[in-house]
Amino acid sequence: MKSIVILISGRGSNMEALIDSELNARIAAVISNRPDAQGLVTARSRCIPTAVADHRSHASRESFDLALMQHIEPYRPDLIVLAGFMRILTERFVHAFQDRLINIHPSLLPAFPGTNTHQRALEEGVKVHGCTVHFVTSALDGGPIIAQAAVPVRDDDTPASLAARVLVQEHRILPAAVRWLLEDRIQLEGRRVRVARVAASDHVLTSPACS
Ligand code: GRF
Repeated sequence: MKSIVILISGRGSNMEALIDSELNARIAAVISNRPDAQGLVTARSRCIPTAVADHRSHASRESFDLALMQHIEPYRPDLIVLAGFMRILTERFVHAFQDRLINIHPSLLPAFPGTNTHQRALEEGVKVHGCTVHFVTSALDGGPIIAQAAVPVRDDDTPASLAARVLVQEHRILPAAVRWLLEDRIQLEGRRVRVARVAASDHVLTSPACS
C-alpha cells in the first residue's frame, strides 16, 4: 500500500478531509512546524503518528528543511501533501521530493499566490475565486496545476465568508487530486497536468458539480 506524509501548520481541516476520504493509502505521519497546531490533536485522535519540526528552533530555512526531511525520509512516502503548511520550502527540499510534493492553495492560481488570498481577491473585485491543488516547485505557489475549483464571489462577501466557501471546495479537490496521484493517473507534460481517464472538464471541479 502506498503511503502519504501530511504537513500542516494549524487547524488541519484539509488533513482531516484526506483522512475521511478513505484513500487507498496509509497516512504514515502528520508533521507540523508548530507544536500547538490543532491538527496534531486531530491526527492523534485518529491514531496517526505525529511529529513536530519547530521552525523556531532553527536559525535558517536550510537547517529547518533539513530537519523536516529527516522526519519525513524514514516513512519513505509516495506522496507528501502540504495541507495548510505555511512555510516556504528550499530548493533542496523541493528537489528531494520532486513530483511527490503537492500543495493546496486558497486561490485560483496563478492569481493571488502567497497569503491573504481572500482579502486580496475582494480588494481586486474578482467575481470568481477558488482554490488550486498543484505540484510544489521552488517558485512560490507556482508549480503545475493538478485541479481547481471555482467559487462565485458575492457582493456581501467578507474574507471570512469567502474563505469558508472556498474551504468546502478545498476539501473536495485535495482528496480527488491525491486519489489521481495514488492511482498513477497523473501525467506531467511541461506545465500541463493530464489526468488519465478523467474528462478535461472534470479537471476543473467547479462547484457544485463533480463529487
Ligand atoms: C487552507 O485554506 C489552506 O488552503 C491554506 O490555509 C488553510 C489551512 O486550513 N493554505 P486547514 O489547516 O487545512 O484547516
